[in-house]
Amino acid sequence: MAKREAVVVVGNGMAGARFVQALTEKARDRFTITVFGDEPYGNYNRILLSSVLAGVKQPVEIFLNPTEWYEKNGIRLHLGVRVVRIDRDRRVAVGQPARHGDAEAGRSLLLEEPYDYLVLATGSRPFVPTIPGKDLPGVFVFRTLDDCVALLEAAERAECAVVIGGGLLGLEAARGLHGRGLKVSVVEIAPHLMVQQLDPLAGRILQQQLEKLGLRIFVQTQVSRILGEGRVQAVELQDGTLLDADLVVISCGIRPNVELAREAGLAVQRGIVVDDQLRTSDPAIFAIGECAEHRGVTYGLVEPVYEQAEVLADVLSGVRPHACYAGSKLATTLKVIGIDLTSMGDVKSSDADSQVFVEADPPNGRYRKLVVKDGRLQGAILLGEKESAQKLLLYFRSGEKLPGHPLEIWYRFSRDGESSEDGQQDAGLSAASLPDDQQICNCHRVSKREIVRCIRAGATSIEAIGQACKAGTGCGSCQGMLGHLLAHYARHAVQQSGALGDTTQNKVELIKREKDGLDSLPDILRYARTGNWEEMTEADKQRFKWHGLFFRIPTPGYFMLRIRHTCGQSNARQFRVIAELSDKFGKGFCDLTTRQQIQMRWFTIRDVPEIWARLSEVGLNSKQTGMDNVRGVCGCPLSGLAPHELFDASPVAREFTSLILDNKEFTNLPRKFNVTITGCLENCCHTETQDIALVPSYRELDGQQVFGFNVFVGGKQGSGGYTPAKPLDVFVRREEAARLCAEIVRIFRDHGSRESRTRARLAFLLQDRGVRWFRQELQARWGKPLFSAGPELRKKHHTDHLGIQPQKRKPGDYGPQLFSVGLLVPVGRITTDQMRGVADLAERYGNGEIRLTVQQNIIIPNIPEDRLSALTDEPLLKELPIDPSPILRGLVCCTGNDYCHFALIDTKGWALQVARELERRTQGQKIAPLTIHMSGCPAGCGLHQVATIGLQGCRTRIGDQIVDAAHVYINGKSGPQPQIATDAMYDVPCEKLADALEPLVRYLPRS
Ligand SMILES: Cc1cc2nc3c(=O)[nH]c(=O)nc-3n(C[C@H](O)[C@H](O)[C@H](O)COP(=O)(O)OP(=O)(O)OC[C@H]3O[C@@H](n4cnc5c(N)ncnc54)[C@H](O)[C@@H]3O)c2cc1C
Ligand code: HEM
Ligand code: SF4
Repeated sequence: MAKREAVVVVGNGMAGARFVQALTEKARDRFTITVFGDEPYGNYNRILLSSVLAGVKQPVEIFLNPTEWYEKNGIRLHLGVRVVRIDRDRRVAVGQPARHGDAEAGRSLLLEEPYDYLVLATGSRPFVPTIPGKDLPGVFVFRTLDDCVALLEAAERAECAVVIGGGLLGLEAARGLHGRGLKVSVVEIAPHLMVQQLDPLAGRILQQQLEKLGLRIFVQTQVSRILGEGRVQAVELQDGTLLDADLVVISCGIRPNVELAREAGLAVQRGIVVDDQLRTSDPAIFAIGECAEHRGVTYGLVEPVYEQAEVLADVLSGVRPHACYAGSKLATTLKVIGIDLTSMGDVKSSDADSQVFVEADPPNGRYRKLVVKDGRLQGAILLGEKESAQKLLLYFRSGEKLPGHPLEIWYRFSRDGESSEDGQQDAGLSAASLPDDQQICNCHRVSKREIVRCIRAGATSIEAIGQACKAGTGCGSCQGMLGHLLAHYARHAVQQSGALGDTTQNKVELIKREKDGLDSLPDILRYARTGNWEEMTEADKQRFKWHGLFFRIPTPGYFMLRIRHTCGQSNARQFRVIAELSDKFGKGFCDLTTRQQIQMRWFTIRDVPEIWARLSEVGLNSKQTGMDNVRGVCGCPLSGLAPHELFDASPVAREFTSLILDNKEFTNLPRKFNVTITGCLENCCHTETQDIALVPSYRELDGQQVFGFNVFVGGKQGSGGYTPAKPLDVFVRREEAARLCAEIVRIFRDHGSRESRTRARLAFLLQDRGVRWFRQELQARWGKPLFSAGPELRKKHHTDHLGIQPQKRKPGDYGPQLFSVGLLVPVGRITTDQMRGVADLAERYGNGEIRLTVQQNIIIPNIPEDRLSALTDEPLLKELPIDPSPILRGLVCCTGNDYCHFALIDTKGWALQVARELERRTQGQKIAPLTIHMSGCPAGCGLHQVATIGLQGCRTRIGDQIVDAAHVYINGKSGPQPQIATDAMYDVPCEKLADALEPLVRYLPRS
């Protein structure tokens, strides 16, 4: 066997590691490879240090190849060893342990590694100008993981920082520190920020945006001195201005590490001079990365570094012995939370043959510039937009002609931001038209071919792709393109199997496009005047749901109104008005819903104005309770009163409700959106079925215990069944929680699918793009680091707050102990007499407050102890009992076929009949608490998949008869350990349901 040639690599940074990886893949058995790295760690992704500083990533997350990888591939790795000399005559690299022991010990540990080929990948170091005070403690540079850790430590104790240098790196450092709560000033000598990548106008708009975020920016000025006694305290500018500074970061550019090469006698100018094959003046020695100078250019970005590493691996491995590096096209994205900025190529072209297109919108922080020559993109600046940047980058990198006149492209890319429908199609086209070998993930060198292979093998989210081939797990800048590839190829995969159905724009999207639902009020009032409901178009009927007004197919000409009750909070006055209206215009009853709302039925369109006027007198409305809106916000019905709540979360639910109501930012979501916000520790709401669930937790912040919420997203019922919401690993303070929810809704609005309505809920966006992507998107919009989740405090058990419960005492409250009394409303249907009765009791015994539960029941709170027995003697409590059997107590039921055209059976009728029968059969026996939920179809409005026993209505044949029946599911659960119900029995005729359920009610273990 031929002797292996020895390759020694000096520098285990981005270039060195990439080269070693590529060479290993291309010629595993031809070489023995030895790597020296003077940093004490394995190889990490340097560009992600900014994300570590900003708190978006943890240091452990940025490592690329762990040390085991080197071992596995037979690569000798000298970590923490600095090469101090190259003996070109003997072809030996001499290393010295860099940071261990004293100099003497270090010298005795000199390591010699003979080489046939030596690769210098020594990178560069920060340039530190000779500013007086630069050596004071508290002055930092930002290049290595050690620098980053030291900065983070100093930031913990600091209040204000000055960053010297307003380039890419300086701004990332500044924003990172600002996000950690420091007051940060940036000082830049040039007339504007990011002078290398931006033109003056873009630089100024960027400055405005950063100032809006809270940074102070000083341009066209210099630091004359860094001041401080024993430690940095301030920075003095040229004009004498003093800026307070507990720490200073110097980010004034870089200088290539060339000393080793120079001492070895290699040709060195600014960098180590190399030819097109990255060879230095010594044919056995090569240089790549920031230390190399190629055709007079040294680079300071990662892409050229990677390209050089690949070319050298091709040359040395013999895969492409004549491969040439011809220089790189430069593009960069600012990794600053809250600002989207990409710059590529020549953005300052004064070439007379170039076309330059500029659109500036400084008040909105947007700037767009395209420089085009011969139909090809020479350069671009995109500030304030993200999607189009990714597509333009493809054209820029490939050098392909733009697909059409630049103005057309301009227009098309503008529209993408506004219409995800068009955007998706266009993104699909670009994704499909990319060549298979196009590298998509530059951090991990993953091509489109590999990614599509993973998608076809079943990866249906960005996270899943990352797990399969690492793409998207580095700097994350390719995740948008991964999303497009997913949208295109996953869709095709599914379409081929026929599972997705119609992928053209859905009907409701067209209706919304025509007119926002909220704008249908004049139409409603017009129909109210004429009473001609038959003239309503399909679009009218759908749009009226934005006002909570529902045309019902089973009761043509008679409408339903859903009245919003945030966290189920109501009162006697409201109950009386709803009862009165239901008597006057309806049929003397209302429905209490599984989202703590009240529904009135059987009124005509003519009655609507009066109903709304009367409701609004008592502070009620029905807005946005249907269709593609944030529906009524749920929460613990005893918010503020429950003995086992961590805190009262209802103010947050109300704040969020007022944010979204009447706000067109939130009236065109891809689909319905359910939110529950609770501080209760006893799982009284089914949080895991919600698009957003905020549940109680705490964090130690600034040395204090702060109560707030852990955030869950993407739960659902319907649209294919129960998907439990996923933890987002985010903790949010109470005062910021409503705003965070709004931001999550915006992500859904902007990225949710608008194709098939059966695949539009937030759960599907999470499935497609992954929780990681979602969190990053939220992080980017949030503008400061998100806290990771606090401890799970919720107890294991579920409560329904029914019966008589002592309320919590507020500090300093020495009055009589108050109690809440929960009344069962069988299957949620309540007569107007009962409503008035409840209102009377609430006023006579309590303070008039009434609460609604997600189990369709009612709670009257604030009853003094000495009034309890009188209350429980009230005749109404025979109809609405406070101590129902366990069977009736846990009974929840959807609307059913009286009023729902989807319903396959009369759910409420059957549920009551079966429950009464089970009650009779189990009378006198001890039955463990349970819930029985019934839905009339798979839509699951009765939430049958989170119940101990779930029933889903269906029809089945017995002999020659088709009869009402139900499928039976068991042991579904929401809460801290959610569980999707298991199928237990199919097609049980309703007549036989009691037989089938009796053993379950008695013996099914409750989990
Ligand atoms: C915070 C930060 C953010 C950045 N963000 C971006 C970005 O968003 N986009 C982008 O394109 N670029 C970015 N960059 C620049 C990018 O990281 C560099 O272009 C890239 O790291 C250069 O790779 P390199 O291998 O040449 O140098 P390095 O990655 O610095 O690696 C050189 C390694 O060699 C070691 N070394 C030096 N001399 C010796 C010796 N004698 N013996 C042994 N080891 C030695 C060094 O310690 C170092 O580990 C960023 C840089 C920083 C610091
Ligand atoms: C005419 C048809 C329908 C009727 C009468 C109906 C009825 C209801 C009612 C009354 C609620 C409580 C709503 C509230 O208080 O805000 C509800 C909730 C719900 N419905 Fe429907 N619905 C219908 C169609 C659908 C469809 C088609 C789906 C799904 C595909 C669906 C899924 C749900 C879900 C998931 C909930 C939420 C339950 C919760 O989180 O509390 N519904 N439905
Ligand atoms: S579960 Fe089905 S039947 Fe019941 S209300 Fe919802 S859509 Fe109608």
